[in-house]
Amino acid sequence: MDAEDLAEWRAWFPVLQHTAYLNTGTYGALPAPVVDTVCAWYRMLEAEGPWSPAVTQRADEMFERVRGKVAALLGAEPAEIALTRSVTDGINIIAHGLRWQPGDEVILSDREHECAWVIWHEIARRYGVRLRIFPLANDPNELLANVQALLTPRTRLIFCSHISCVTGLVVPGAALAELAHRHGVLLMLDGAHAAGQIPVDVRALGCDFYASCGHKWVMGPQGTAFLYIAAEQLPQVEPSWVGAGSRSRECKGPGDERLLWAEGGRRFENATRAWGLYAGLETALDIIQQISPAKIAAHVQTMVRPFKEVVQALPQLRLLTPLAAERSAGLVAAELTGYRDELLSKRYEERRLLFPCAPRDDGTHWVRIAVAYYVLPEELQRVVELLREASM
Ligand SMILES: Cc1ncc(COP(=O)(O)O)c(C=O)c1O
Repeated sequence: MDAEDLAEWRAWFPVLQHTAYLNTGTYGALPAPVVDTVCAWYRMLEAEGPWSPAVTQRADEMFERVRGKVAALLGAEPAEIALTRSVTDGINIIAHGLRWQPGDEVILSDREHECAWVIWHEIARRYGVRLRIFPLANDPNELLANVQALLTPRTRLIFCSHISCVTGLVVPGAALAELAHRHGVLLMLDGAHAAGQIPVDVRALGCDFYASCGHKWVMGPQGTAFLYIAAEQLPQVEPSWVGAGSRSRECKGPGDERLLWAEGGRRFENATRAWGLYAGLETALDIIQQISPAKIAAHVQTMVRPFKEVVQALPQLRLLTPLAAERSAGLVAAELTGYRDELLSKRYEERRLLFPCAPRDDGTHWVRIAVAYYVLPEELQRVVELLREASM
């Protein structure tokens, strides 16, 4: 990446003036133009009045542009996109929208985010669905074999993160889709960490559903997210939280008893949303596209590879993320044994390093470093120094 561009982009993020921000995996920092768009929208709404025909038309047009830009980011058609508020929303739309029979089975990995864990357990409790859990192996053949071993005639759906929030593994999504479809099973990928971080093409992946968000690697506002539903699967996903927004505009209001759903993913967008935040998402999507997801992924690899090699050599450290570029991206996770908590827990106050580190009861720590495109090798070097000192 061009050094001048990088310097300009870094200037967008005030936090970088005093801190190495290495937690895009939880919340992406917002580029200044995104914050400007959000503020400009709220100023415009207050100046014009938050409701007027001109303002609502502008909002309607903005939502359709955002839908188109999300579709372009994921390689989908606009009608296949629902604009949601969180990844959790997207998973719930699918989990509660499919019609389950007692005894149906869902396969999910042992490394899913807590939200998925809770949602699928609720589906199991409510509908008598059986959950089957597979170990998320770093080796793609082992991973696929683990899934294959759990497939039965009752399997309805496989659920898996595209990039694991625990290990940073990039899952072989296309092979998983091929395996699922060969057995007549649906595949839902949780793409919370993929959109904006690596190029995503839901058609090439072949998944049926894909949930992701604006607030991580897209670097858009919290409260913005999106869900892809393959056009051919739409008829089997019933909207379970419905409202005025879910109905087709052909319906004429409260007196009209027809329940015609809005076209495509719009039927899941049931009510008033925070217009300014989605306007901010549009700017964030523009920025990601201008820099280019492929360029971002390639640039991040040049930093992450040497970082992982150095980190891996530290004593009592187990790198959870694969070294191979095709199986990893900018999320680097490790397990530390016997490291000094007094140093790790003050990483922000004393070293100005922001990344998650979870101490466990057995004395080990789990750490995760998120390398966004603006991160500098010097910042990663500071992480290495901290880990080295904390390991002594
Ligand atoms: C893999 C994964 N899925 C889902 C979520 C939940 O996202 P949200 O808060 O948007 O529902 C996260 C958040 O960290 C995540 O890492």
